[in-house]
Amino acid sequence: MDTKRHYSLFDKLCLGLDQAVRALSDTPKTSGRPYPADKVAEERLSEEARKHAAGLMRINHAGEICAQALYHGQGIVSRTDAIQRKMQAAAIEEGDHLAWCKQRLDELGSHPTYLSPFWYAGSFCIGMTAGLIGDKWSLGFVAETERQVIKHLEGHLKMLPSEDKRSYKILAQMEADEAKHRDEAIAQGANELPRFIKKGMTLVSTVMVKTAYWL
Ligand SMILES: [Fe+2]
Ligand SMILES: [Fe+2]
Repeated sequence: MDTKRHYSLFDKLCLGLDQAVRALSDTPKTSGRPYPADKVAEERLSEEARKHAAGLMRINHAGEICAQALYHGQGIVSRTDAIQRKMQAAAIEEGDHLAWCKQRLDELGSHPTYLSPFWYAGSFCIGMTAGLIGDKWSLGFVAETERQVIKHLEGHLKMLPSEDKRSYKILAQMEADEAKHRDEAIAQGANELPRFIKKGMTLVSTVMVKTAYWL
């Protein structure tokens, strides 16, 4: 007997609304993993270093808002239950990232970007579109997103003030998780995206990075 639950369109809409509210109110579903910076001492940061670290962590928080929305959008429309469950599971790990970035922003005395609702809505639509085109393309989209996020995290690990070891530890754990998400998407049969889509994704993320650092 098939004991797996099948969701109706109404169930999915309610789930989508719940996930959006949770992401935008910084109460996402998480896996409950410990905060990576728990055992790392807080070092004294100059005002300039604190502001710079906060700007970088605000970008990462905005990126995680986008990740939540992409996975939620794709998870809602994906064709197979197995992919749908994978997308929702990955979204929970992205929930850990979102919570960690928010906690670090609080510690740095700062705030998430004011444009979070805009980024969530845009990314959700992109995720749904990718999901509607087909699971292989949707997975291709995940693989490329994660590839770009990893590259961006590598840059941030170099740009952080050297004293900010707590942020460093968080971003290093996130980078390892994103690599896992990328590899899983490839293992599930992700299609390679056309070059113009990859370029478009880079362009959108550049706008997000530039605005989130300041706003
Ligand atoms: Fe993430
Ligand atoms: Fe990820």
